[in-house]
Amino acid sequence: MCGIVAYIGQRDVVPVIMKGLHRLEYRGYDSAGLAIHGPSGLEVYKRRGKVSELEDWVQDKNISSHIGIGHTRWATHGEPNDVNAHPHLSPDGKIAVVHNGIIENYESLRRHLLAKGYTFRSETDTEVLAVLIADFQKEHGFDLERAVRMALHRVVGAYLVAVLSTDEPNTLVVARKGSPGVIGIGDDEFLVASDATPIIEYTKRVVYLNEDELAVISDKGLTLKNLKNEQRSPEIEQLDLELTAIEKEGYPHFMLKEIYEQPKTVRDCLRGRLRANEATIKLGGIREYAEHLNRAERVVFLACGTSWHAGIVASYLFEDLCHIPATSDYASEFRYRNPVIREGDVVLVISQSGETADTLKAIDMVKERGGIVLGICNVVGSSISRETHEGVYTHSGPEIGVASTKAFTGQLAVLTLIALKLASERSTLSAMRLNQLLRDLDQVPQKIEEVLTQNDHIKAIAEQYAKVKNMLFMGRGAQFPIALEGALKLKEISYIHAEGYPSGEMKHGPIALVEEATPSLFLCFKDGNYEKVFSNIQEVKARKGKVIVIGEQGDAELEEISDAFIGVPAIDPVLMPMVSVVALQLFAYHMGVLNGRNVDQPRNLAKSVTVE
Ligand code: M6R
Repeated sequence: MCGIVAYIGQRDVVPVIMKGLHRLEYRGYDSAGLAIHGPSGLEVYKRRGKVSELEDWVQDKNISSHIGIGHTRWATHGEPNDVNAHPHLSPDGKIAVVHNGIIENYESLRRHLLAKGYTFRSETDTEVLAVLIADFQKEHGFDLERAVRMALHRVVGAYLVAVLSTDEPNTLVVARKGSPGVIGIGDDEFLVASDATPIIEYTKRVVYLNEDELAVISDKGLTLKNLKNEQRSPEIEQLDLELTAIEKEGYPHFMLKEIYEQPKTVRDCLRGRLRANEATIKLGGIREYAEHLNRAERVVFLACGTSWHAGIVASYLFEDLCHIPATSDYASEFRYRNPVIREGDVVLVISQSGETADTLKAIDMVKERGGIVLGICNVVGSSISRETHEGVYTHSGPEIGVASTKAFTGQLAVLTLIALKLASERSTLSAMRLNQLLRDLDQVPQKIEEVLTQNDHIKAIAEQYAKVKNMLFMGRGAQFPIALEGALKLKEISYIHAEGYPSGEMKHGPIALVEEATPSLFLCFKDGNYEKVFSNIQEVKARKGKVIVIGEQGDAELEEISDAFIGVPAIDPVLMPMVSVVALQLFAYHMGVLNGRNVDQPRNLAKSVTVE
């Protein structure tokens, strides 16, 4: 939620910030702005709409500077408009702030500042921080660093903030708590951003801000301190990211590029971990806690959105393959219950971004109750990867499209590896079955490639159904969470109302929705549920409902009964979720495009949900 980029150095800051904001736009895109030090003080340019609108608007203003801060917003407090857009200025115009996160106690801070005679222009929580910093400067004569530190001591909530002050025109102060921040170190220049994507073009040398840490960056260099004013020396890391990974490379949308990357990303995820010929799995990320997992009496998966769907698939795999009781829970529900965590339980959290606020809070809760938490994350160095005891990266590469695609198949690949490793340690599968599954897992990238060859066929089906208002998605067993995922993808990308159900639940309610105008999409494979799902399809057909079916290639009977049929290559049902979901991703993508939606940046959404 919200993206921040800041720069100090020799270059003209405006193009650097604009390019950076474009790269971060997936994090929020309802308004954008920047502040620079101009000849007569701080200049702020901000407006509602996309970064390109801001860019067009400032183009003929002839502005330039060597230092500035920029922001692309996903609104939390106050509607998206020019006034609520960041940066926010203090009333005296001396302080400019951009902020990602949420200031939970902003109401009481606002009242305190109103009582002191300050006024506010916006409805945002962030403006309170700008005023508070200015107040510390005015009342106590603090320098910028100290004023920011003192103000942040008063703040309850989460933030990455970047602050400029007219009193120190060559200084940039940034601070983090609960929202990620990276500092790029170039030759006589520094960049700060919510993630590394605005930085890689200029330098690969970065420092990740720690929790409760503040950085002072000036022409004298970089100083890192915690909020208690204790200094630490920066640990410079080398970015393992190429520019091509964050560019569209000829695809019309990031989402399509990312769907097509899946054979590679799943291969990357399995590489070095799965040795199908030797029938072994090596998971370097889980060592110290491997025994806990081997002995687990129960496994709980916690996640949100698409990652939660991966958790449901995993819970079925763990019960089936490892004979461990397993459940998958929304992190946002789990943390507001009073869940029982017992010795012997292992919690696995799943998150693409590694920054999801509810998932992070659920981790805290499990740890407080003495539980072991393992993470499955895509973003290296993310908060969740740091907060968990150990974990496994999905190695899917940067996912820019807001709808998660390749990160989901990466999560499934990692979860399948963990389940098979555990099954091997616990001897819950015969050697023959285990070896076969390992060999089949190795084939998944190739099977995904085969699904991708059906893109034109899937697009043609989407053309027939593009104007529907509602859809049902149904499947059984491990295909039920895939039905949920198919419905979520369609909803977020096309804004068509869609619901996912276990097909066994159909007669308990959703069948009332069946009519010619409401198509049902079934996932029907030769796993133990084939006949049951087949009957459900017939029941829908008997009520004149249109039926799209995703089944095994060559299943003539299924194709015959369907109004539209997508055949995917056969593979063991345990692995089919990674294959069948690709057809659903393509279907949602085409439905979105055919409806004229911005599939990479669907309305109201943001890539990483860093507020609860
Ligand atoms: O980064 P996370 O995996 O923790 O994010 C969880 C959800 O916000 C995310 O999966 C969301 O549902 C996506 N928009 C789905 O496409």
